[in-house]
Amino acid sequence: MNIPKSFNQMDQWKAVMFLYNSALKEINTKIEILNNEFVHIYSYNPIEHIKSRLKTPESIVKKLKSDGREVTIPNMIDHLSDIAGIRIICSFTSDIYRIADMIARQSDVTVLYVKDYIKNPKPNGYKSYHMVVTIPIYLSEGPVDTKVEIQIRTVAMDFWASLEHKIYYKFEGNAPDFLEKELKACADMVDLLDAKMFSLNEAIMKISAEQRMKEEEEFRQSQEAQK
Ligand code: GTP
Ligand code: MG
Repeated sequence: MNIPKSFNQMDQWKAVMFLYNSALKEINTKIEILNNEFVHIYSYNPIEHIKSRLKTPESIVKKLKSDGREVTIPNMIDHLSDIAGIRIICSFTSDIYRIADMIARQSDVTVLYVKDYIKNPKPNGYKSYHMVVTIPIYLSEGPVDTKVEIQIRTVAMDFWASLEHKIYYKFEGNAPDFLEKELKACADMVDLLDAKMFSLNEAIMKISAEQRMKEEEEFRQSQEAQK
């Protein structure tokens, strides 16, 4: 990311945040379009909802300090990947990979790295698919590649993560043992629920497909009979 050298600190801050905000808008639009396309073609809505946010100045400073870095704008650009963050909440685990693929395949999106905490959950039970991408923001002087962190998870995973986050903050990372154990047990229930909901949905889709085929066959037969 190139910020004009002549800018003072305040200008730099504004310019950088303007870029991250623009990147959020770009990615949000892409995701909305993909979702609408799905609804249009398959009558199916893979995304439950989308949340996006810019990291607050307080969190940026806190994170740089906790990483042992000097609080500077170049450090925040180079070392923080989640200044612009988008969270996509889906119904089923299979939707997660479908959406991730569709985003990654777009020619102006560059995937910097992926952390698949669904295949490899964190020891506390955290599950989610993380993707850090860059997207070019077209300013009058030319394009500026801007980072966005995309988190994709199911409704059940999101429910778990928001409770875990609350507990983590409440106890500043030192939650009592029994709470950590209970959370881990809940994470296992999330797995079970996601698997059950997926197979239930598969069964429903299979019945619908069979019904559709039967109706088409009946229609075809009635057409034959009229000949
Ligand atoms: P930081 O966690 O921000 O230092 O970056 P990282 O390099 O560890 O990235 P990671 O992909 O592990 O996490 C980035 C984001 O994922 C966090 O800011 C949270 O939003 C989310 N996250 C990661 N781990 C957990 C977790 O254990 N619980 C919850 N609730 N959220 C998590
Ligand atoms: Mg982390």
